[in-house]
Amino acid sequence: MKPMIIAVDGPAGSGKSSVCRGTAHSLGWRYLDTGAMYRAMTWAVLEAGIDPSNANEVANFCTQPKILSGFDPQMPTIVVDGIDVSKAIRLEKVTSAVSAVSAISDVRTLLVLMQRQEAQQALSDGTGIVVEGRDITTVVLPDAEVKIFLTARPEIRALRRAKEEAGSASATVKDIQATREALQRRDHLDSTRKASPLTQSKEAFEIDTSDMTLDEVIAEVVVRAEAAQ
Ligand code: DC
Repeated sequence: MKPMIIAVDGPAGSGKSSVCRGTAHSLGWRYLDTGAMYRAMTWAVLEAGIDPSNANEVANFCTQPKILSGFDPQMPTIVVDGIDVSKAIRLEKVTSAVSAVSAISDVRTLLVLMQRQEAQQALSDGTGIVVEGRDITTVVLPDAEVKIFLTARPEIRALRRAKEEAGSASATVKDIQATREALQRRDHLDSTRKASPLTQSKEAFEIDTSDMTLDEVIAEVVVRAEAAQ
């Protein structure tokens, strides 16, 4: 298939990561998780002892950390100043601070530039790339050949996230309820912030993943990519 960019947006728990990784793997393409880049920046802010809600300090600091994304959809990695933070960026302290950091426009300007460079680099290297986030179809790569917006019902999203967070243990009803409330708070922050809020591009094809298997969603995205040849 001709190398191209597949841009995917959607809220937390809509299935973005699994779908994007699966699609990139099945096409033999690169995968870029832009949420991981905002998380990595948040990790660096916390490590530096900066208050994530102090926009001026974060803005002054944000050019310092060197953030490097790995593109392997089977083993996505992210490194900050030589430290592999792939696991650390999923910790609760990062999750609860990431909305504040990702709302700061200097942070977004910097990371958006990096994301566009990664996408262009993939095409220059003769390969396609699947990029996931909140503003990929609207701001970062609005000219992507394929634009997808993933959704799922709130209870399904909470169940998926709670299961992910519980790891090998099973998620309790209390876990699911707490996750649902945390997701609602984060959705609200992500979609009401001034800088590039999560919005659905009119041009993006919406897939409600609530009642679909992962393979069905991946197949749907691949069909869209084939149609864009
Ligand atoms: O997809 P995720 O939950 O790992 O994303 C972490 C946070 O980063 C999320 O709260 C919103 C923000 N984000 C963003 O503002 N823009 C993106 N392109 C990707 C993520």
